[in-house]
Amino acid sequence: MPTPEEQVDQWFDPKKPSTTEVGTKRESDAHSLSVGPDGPLLLHDVALVEKIARFDRERVPERSPHAKGSGAFGEFVVTGDVSKYTKAKFLQPGTTTPMLARFSTVAGELGSPDSWRDVRGFALKFYTEDGNFDMVGNNTPVFFVRDPMKFPDFIHSQKRLPDSGLRSPNMQWDFWSLSPESAHQVAYLMGPRGLPKTWRNMNGYSSHTYMWVNEDGEKFWVKYHFLTDQGVENMSNEEAAKLAGEDADVHRRDLFDAIKDGNFPSWTLHVQIMPYEDAKTYRFNPFDLTKIWSKNDYPRIEVGRFTLNQNPINHYAQIEQAAFSPSNTVPGTGVSPDKMLLSRVFSYPDAQRNRVGTNFNQLPVNAPVVKTNNYDKEGHMQYHHTGAAPVYAPNSYGRAYQDTQGVVDNGWEADGELVRMAYTLHRDDDDFGQAHTLVREVYSEEERQELVNTVVDMLKSDLEEPVLSNVFAYWKNIDAEVGQAIEDGYRQG
Ligand code: HEM
Repeated sequence: MPTPEEQVDQWFDPKKPSTTEVGTKRESDAHSLSVGPDGPLLLHDVALVEKIARFDRERVPERSPHAKGSGAFGEFVVTGDVSKYTKAKFLQPGTTTPMLARFSTVAGELGSPDSWRDVRGFALKFYTEDGNFDMVGNNTPVFFVRDPMKFPDFIHSQKRLPDSGLRSPNMQWDFWSLSPESAHQVAYLMGPRGLPKTWRNMNGYSSHTYMWVNEDGEKFWVKYHFLTDQGVENMSNEEAAKLAGEDADVHRRDLFDAIKDGNFPSWTLHVQIMPYEDAKTYRFNPFDLTKIWSKNDYPRIEVGRFTLNQNPINHYAQIEQAAFSPSNTVPGTGVSPDKMLLSRVFSYPDAQRNRVGTNFNQLPVNAPVVKTNNYDKEGHMQYHHTGAAPVYAPNSYGRAYQDTQGVVDNGWEADGELVRMAYTLHRDDDDFGQAHTLVREVYSEEERQELVNTVVDMLKSDLEEPVLSNVFAYWKNIDAEVGQAIEDGYRQG
């Protein structure tokens, strides 16, 4: 990766007095051109018109979900040996790969407080010698829905009401309580890990099941777990509410300051590996994003560690314009039949063509460290180009192209009629079982009580019937005692 100094674009010379954008002298940064000192302004004041017009265009759309966040650069070092599971070069023993991480909240807009209770995004980009590999995960191992058709509705319900523009727990709980598959993630979010103390103190998960392929063509299913080396720490509702008022950027500040002070945070990557054939018979459908795999069934295997050691030197260029996507895979890795994942593969580059611009991958933060060659061309802000080389394949003029055919090495078998329906149920599949285990067996008595208080507080804000009754029933399905405590807590006011 280039050093921060190297990253400052040579386009600019900070010692040179202001110029126009085409390099001619800009007369003034302080005074507009007027007819006499008190007179009207003039349209041919190029300095003023360019400055104001450029200012009018400073904003690009924020990310639709995950708008508020920040990140840093670092490196990933492989300390373990997973070569029998994947041929991916950046996962081979001893390999070091430069990378970028961005952490975020999901529902809040660009200026929203970092300390709102929400899932946190955990997006990583590895600049590998086979091209970019991205892992766009969260700080939770599961998700709210399992079919992408529901994703926009889910996000709408977490954002703002159409009339008042206010956030609405009633809307959030209406969606959740009518979507029982959300129970596991909601139980996670309402628990202690719904409020991480800092980004440095949270784990990251792929959540989805992905594929690995080894040199012999053997395939495995894999889940990634990035465990924080700083230890998991969370905060209370009271602390979070206070910070939301006092320092909305608390997590952004914490990460930046830690790295500035040389206190570099790191995460250790572990994976759970499932043999390819196990997917058919595992007690949970392994492609259902609302489920985890038990660590007893598939223990964690250590792979390596990434360390964040370099702050952005320009937040807009390097973080706001960063474009992560689950579609960025490299040989030895791949996606899986998880329907959510398959739709994300389309959604991210599509959103980024709109948000950043068609040629977003030409920006330094998104560009791979290897050269590219393809027949995509032109569009807004194209910078790199292929000169007079042929713009079509096949061609007779020596510009290379691919014509691979046949079975892909990171695919799977699929057959059947076209249907619209839920996944095939495996032996232990249901919506509430894993949520119950989390609430009853993982949380302590104190954490359970705190969860009840958190939910009751939310219900008191703007909940109305029939949503309230649905929420009580939803929680009783997760855990009868906790559900009753929530109803009692609410009714006692
Ligand atoms: C069908 C399901 C989903 C769709 C359609 C979807 C779509 C999107 C879109 C359009 C963005 C903004 C991208 C951009 O403008 O750069 C985004 C951001 C993000 N999503 Fe999703 N998403 C889905 C599910 C998920 C899941 C399951 C996870 C985690 C496992 C996730 C994690 C993230 C993260 C971390 C970001 C922020 C990336 C960054 O830091 O730039 N999303 N999502």
